[in-house]
Amino acid sequence: MQPNDPGAEREAPRDPGTDRVVIFDTTLRDGEQSPGASMNIGQKLQVAHALRDLGVDVIEAGFAAASPGDLEAIRAVARQVEGPIIASLARCHPGDIAANWEALKDAPRRRCHVFLATSPIHREFKLKMARDEILRRSSDGVALAREKFDDVEFSAEDAVRTELDFLAEIVERAIEAGATTINVPDTVGYALPSTYARTLQYLRQNVRGIDRIVLSVHCHDDLGLAVANSLTGVLEGARQVECTINGIGERAGNASLEEVVMAMKTRRDVFGVSCGVKTERLYPTSRLVSQVTGLHVQRNKAIVGQNAFAHEAGIHQHGMLTHRETYEIMRPEEVGFISTSLVLGKHSGRHALKERLAALGYLLDESQVEAVFADFKALADKKKDIYDADIEALMVHGQILGVSPKAWEIVSLSTTSGTGTLPCASVSLRSADGKEHQAVSAGDGPVDAVFKAFDRVTGFHARLRDYQLSSITVGEDAQGEVSLEVEHATGLHRGRALSTDIIEGSARAYLDVINRIALMGPRTALDAQSRDEMGAP
Ligand code: KIV
Ligand code: ZN
Repeated sequence: MQPNDPGAEREAPRDPGTDRVVIFDTTLRDGEQSPGASMNIGQKLQVAHALRDLGVDVIEAGFAAASPGDLEAIRAVARQVEGPIIASLARCHPGDIAANWEALKDAPRRRCHVFLATSPIHREFKLKMARDEILRRSSDGVALAREKFDDVEFSAEDAVRTELDFLAEIVERAIEAGATTINVPDTVGYALPSTYARTLQYLRQNVRGIDRIVLSVHCHDDLGLAVANSLTGVLEGARQVECTINGIGERAGNASLEEVVMAMKTRRDVFGVSCGVKTERLYPTSRLVSQVTGLHVQRNKAIVGQNAFAHEAGIHQHGMLTHRETYEIMRPEEVGFISTSLVLGKHSGRHALKERLAALGYLLDESQVEAVFADFKALADKKKDIYDADIEALMVHGQILGVSPKAWEIVSLSTTSGTGTLPCASVSLRSADGKEHQAVSAGDGPVDAVFKAFDRVTGFHARLRDYQLSSITVGEDAQGEVSLEVEHATGLHRGRALSTDIIEGSARAYLDVINRIALMGPRTALDAQSRDEMGAP
């Protein structure tokens, strides 16, 4: 129990009639818009299952009209993930709304999320539409969505930079047309808590029918204020918060789900609200999303960073030993933080592996456990101690979440390098039709030579933007993880691989990128048309 904050009384929440906050997770839609964070269908399903287990209320699974790949992934989530409402984004266009219906019609609980930009800058430069047209299109879009869906959310994109009287008019029309949730996005992360509060107050005081709908907040982190603004929204009566795991998303990202949820829980004395998130699943879900997207969580990140519960200074350690709450406002167990990472070895069985996988956020069926177990045994033959990081790596690079089927596989690889010799690589790759293809190449070093040889075989062209090598665990037999980022005609892409041999690890990471791009096919081609063209946020 923490002592009450003496300032809490001044921040008493406005009364919207309920103390339950809807957690709307958009990791699979806005989160996936982080450069290089795209996921394949299998990965999206894995994350969606984890979000269901976490207890979120709404999963925004994608933007159905953006590409056939997006539509397929949303449909798979809609069919297979039961419990939360499954949502898909749409412009106020008949085609987008029809695509949402196609993607969501099999979901037991579904939501159509329509949006239209409302600010002067978007009206003039992006949409080239006058106010009247925006009013008409948004209410027509909502009305059309309501013909198929009972649950329709309307978002006024860039609401924060919209004239208040016009925003109120748009919102009122959307409610009249049948919107059940109204979202007030800070699309470019421009708001301050005080200005965001004023916008929400204005809407609550000036929009007829606002008490009938759920008011929602959606904040971006360009000024580092996404969580603060979202929490301000809750104090101002918003009862839905849109957020992502680890705060991933466009540019600086979205409000981080784990921070919003733990702030509401830890400072219930101020907020007086609750939500359905099982907080002990926060850390495992964060790890899963980080592994799947390749986006590392910074060590000092609140709630889920490696250092979030570490106490280094002697004076803090002393205080902790005497009375934990001297320096700790949350218990690590509350967020599912795993403090020990030494786990299994060659004699561990399926059951121990399955339990450890679940603790790490991977809830697998028996056949999937069998597949990971086979990879686990192979690794245990090479390595004495298997740590959590090794298990996560097996998941991401192994048979379950790795890109599969593969467009290209390594048959053999050898390199020569040293002082006074030209670094060279000789590679043989197998294509999906089973044929083997060979190439040799020189390079600036053995890794560069391998990449060039792969380019020759596959016809792949990209610019390497980042290359990182790190040891994922401790000890002499530790595996090295190579993660790299390339710039390709279809956008930024990341690849990762593990090996005890750094040249092989680099080769596998590069091939991981080549495979991801090869298997994305039409989706990346569509993504390459700028999202602006679609008017997407
Ligand atoms: O940032 C934004 O405005 C959005 C909306 C579509 C909700 O992502
Ligand atoms: Zn957004």
